[in-house]
Amino acid sequence: MRVAIIGAGRIGGNVARQLARAGHDVVVTFSRDPDRLRSRAADLGATAEPDVATAVAAADVVVLSVPWAAIPAALERAGSLAGKVVVDTTNQFGPGPMPAAGQTAAAFNASRMPGARYTKSFNTLTSGFQEQVAGRDPRVVQWLCGDDAEAKALVAGLIRDAGYEPVDLGGGDGCAVMEAPRRDGAVYGEEYRLPEAQQVAEAVRAGRGRGRL
Ligand SMILES: NC(=O)c1ccc[n+]([C@@H]2O[C@H](COP(=O)([O-])OP(=O)(O)OC[C@H]3O[C@@H](n4cnc5c(N)ncnc54)[C@H](OP(=O)(O)O)[C@@H]3O)[C@@H](O)[C@H]2O)c1
Repeated sequence: MRVAIIGAGRIGGNVARQLARAGHDVVVTFSRDPDRLRSRAADLGATAEPDVATAVAAADVVVLSVPWAAIPAALERAGSLAGKVVVDTTNQFGPGPMPAAGQTAAAFNASRMPGARYTKSFNTLTSGFQEQVAGRDPRVVQWLCGDDAEAKALVAGLIRDAGYEPVDLGGGDGCAVMEAPRRDGAVYGEEYRLPEAQQVAEAVRAGRGRGRL
């Protein structure tokens, strides 16, 4: 699969490395320094494409992994994401436009990319931890949410290829428990493995909250 990573930093770089290792065609894009982007790509087993719109146009899946404040610039440079499967790894820290009261960061970001097949994943665990545990058995859970079932199935496959266990928290509403900050009733910042994660997902989808045992 052709995967464009917008922002191959700590999180995006780890996803890029794991997916390239698994045989995917990974392109990294969106950097303040084209030379750094090239050397980063070589290190990750990916290719570099300085033009974000070009990288996105050629991709089956787009991973958005930039600091919150850089999202408007990244999306502007990406151009239309309509029809693209997008994996949003971001968390709402730092400056920049914010979700409305009661709106999830996922819903807010989805509204900033009209027509995209939006999913959210890779955002609940630190980059160092994600790098360390990729491929470890039993697999560490990467939570997944979004309203497009087919897009989520595709992203679940990529999560497996990257060395984690995908667990679906449901549609846009399920995204709330994946989002910062770390708090009671949320999965953000917590490490999970099956089968506990499946019980949590069932509880969230049934509207019973995180339901950690
Ligand atoms: N770090 C974590 O532990 C962690 C965990 C879960 C989720 N997240 C979320 O994942 C997203 C990415 O986090 P990260 O820690 O991977 O970020 P990061 O290491 O700072 O990487 C940011 C990437 O964006 C690129 N970039 C391009 N323009 C930029 C600009 N104007 N300002 C900043 N970066 C720019 C950087 O490339 P150049 O440096 O080459 O410009 C770099 O590749 C964030 O939304 C974060 O909240 C992070």
